Amino acid sequence: MRTLLKLLSDGEFHSGEDLGVDLGISRSAVWKKLQQMEAETGVEIHKVRGRGYRLPSPLLLLDQQWLQNGQSDVDWSIHVYDTIDSTNAEAMRLVALGSSMPLLILAEQQTAGRGRRGRKWVSPFAENLYYSVALRIDGGMRQLEGLSLLVGLAVLRTLHEAGVSGAGLKWPNDILVGQRKLAGVLLEITGDPADVCHVVIGIGINVNMRTAEEVDQAWTSMALESGINFDRNRLAARLGIHLHHYLAAHREKGFGAFQAEWEANHLWQNRPVMLLTASNAIEGIVVGIDAVGALRLRVGEQVKVFSGGELSLRLREHSSL
Ligand code: BTN
Repeated sequence: MRTLLKLLSDGEFHSGEDLGVDLGISRSAVWKKLQQMEAETGVEIHKVRGRGYRLPSPLLLLDQQWLQNGQSDVDWSIHVYDTIDSTNAEAMRLVALGSSMPLLILAEQQTAGRGRRGRKWVSPFAENLYYSVALRIDGGMRQLEGLSLLVGLAVLRTLHEAGVSGAGLKWPNDILVGQRKLAGVLLEITGDPADVCHVVIGIGINVNMRTAEEVDQAWTSMALESGINFDRNRLAARLGIHLHHYLAAHREKGFGAFQAEWEANHLWQNRPVMLLTASNAIEGIVVGIDAVGALRLRVGEQVKVFSGGELSLRLREHSSL
């Protein structure tokens, strides 16, 4: 499928005959492949009698070689898929198979993208970044402390550098513009965190997506925020460089070194919020985070500390944003 997509990616017309010659198949086999591709990716193919086939607009696909060169100081082996259930799930499978770490999985499309708290992550073809890094962690609970918040900082640095200056963080690891979600982080851990474990850092960034009826929360994308389309290869390479840098500093100094930077980028700092737990809703004012990334909330006269992947924050004054 990738070869056929690459041939068509310039957005120009290509005759069935030429495509057949390039692929070494018959014209009718080309037609079948195009139909299959349309069904699998949702990418529309225009067919005009006498001229051939073309995509509605040029398509810049992820390029493994370009990415490897674009982040040459980052020693991660890179795997790029056209379609996968979930890049996190694939990373977990490669961990289970004993693949050498670290590795980076990217996909053009996810058929079962996973979000936090059991949500689905909508992942249309060739529009966004679906990005998972798998790391081996040897005997260091400390290396996991605040890790998902730290990843949020690396994503934010990448977005600001790309010119999306309105993006900020929401505890624990959402990236928002205003109240609209632009990117999310999902960490999955396997093994024994006190001994040897593997962590998969899953990052989803809405890059060039402009419509998506299936998303069940307020969302935005880099393209919607800035009015331009972004090169996902360049973005992924910059993300790799920033993430690599933040991870190395975190290993050396711990999350405490990033507490102030994180709070400075927290959109809901000092805001009245509702913290939703599995069984409870707690009202308070956000004081900040602690040295391991737990939320510090003023509840009545006390400052209480909360942590855990299933917690979620809501603002209590929607009208003022
Ligand atoms: C969230 O709910 O905020 C987290 C979303 C994380 C989505 C990314 S996309 C790449 C990786 N693979 C997945 O299945 N999920 C994460």
